[in-house]
Amino acid sequence: MTAERVQALALGGLNKLPAQFIRPAHERPENTVAVDGVTVPVISLSQPHDVVVKEVAEACQEWGFFLITDHGILPSLIQRLKEVGQEFFELPQEEKEAYANDAACGKFEGYGTRMTKNLEEKVEWIDYYFHLMAPASKVNYDVWPKNPPAYRGVTEEYNKEILRITDNLLQLLSEGLGLEGKVLKSCLGDEELELEMKINMYPPCPQPELALGVEPHTDMSALTILVPNDVPGLQVWKDDNWVAVNLLENALFVHIGDQIEVLSNGKYKSVLHRSLVNKECTRMSWAVFIVPPHEVNIGPLSELVNDQNQAKYSTKTYAEYRHRKFNKLPQ
Ligand code: SIN
Ligand code: FE2
Repeated sequence: MTAERVQALALGGLNKLPAQFIRPAHERPENTVAVDGVTVPVISLSQPHDVVVKEVAEACQEWGFFLITDHGILPSLIQRLKEVGQEFFELPQEEKEAYANDAACGKFEGYGTRMTKNLEEKVEWIDYYFHLMAPASKVNYDVWPKNPPAYRGVTEEYNKEILRITDNLLQLLSEGLGLEGKVLKSCLGDEELELEMKINMYPPCPQPELALGVEPHTDMSALTILVPNDVPGLQVWKDDNWVAVNLLENALFVHIGDQIEVLSNGKYKSVLHRSLVNKECTRMSWAVFIVPPHEVNIGPLSELVNDQNQAKYSTKTYAEYRHRKFNKLPQ
């Protein structure tokens, strides 16, 4: 069965949002507006090491989310990453369909759109492209876009940079827990750590006040590092309010995901977030999920558990965590 793509639907020229995209009243952006005057933490990595450790640890405890600047990725690389992703989505529909995924058959990589299983189920206003990016031994380049031809080279370059930043962040996060710098990375599989690329594409939406690009969720990854295009839309949940994340040229958006919350025994929190869509503009974002190999066991770090601080989470493989999260089963 071929999926109905949101992009194709939007291109057809709609003035009313089809029923399967209309969120229940309590979820609609028009009824859940972001709070004024609150902004997310922005952390420059060029500050002295101890300052960065402290700011990152605070942001992980209070928000589970922060922006980083002075991270060393060239603005021109971020620009090229966005161009190749955008060019892929501008290809004719049938060319994109050659990369269609089939999640029902366990083929998660490729071009995708979520489909409704029943009339009550609501879907998100989004198409995406998803593929593994690291480690090289597990990557299947056949499922990456071949067009534009620069896609692979640019994405491999970006992958190297994100690996470097991941090392840096995991070290900062470990130190913020009072542990040796290498602890978190070693729990997450060291060099076997996996990086997944998800390009999110939110076409212009006829009634954005009734829809969501992505519904509220926490990421099941350890970390997610994201860059958006120039259309805002991401919101994070803080102290019982949605907070809009403002654009900041060339900053990277860092989300703490569920695996870091578990490893830190709840000291760092996995951020609840959602994304909104726009009436006139296409919003895009490039999210890299940093995840442990599926067979690795993740549980609260023994260094953080004692008689006064009992383990708040059970230990299980990432595969098991993922299975339960996908199927909405208790962890
Ligand atoms: C997501 O969290 O899945 C998407 C976030 C975004 O597009 O900014
Ligand atoms: Fe997310």
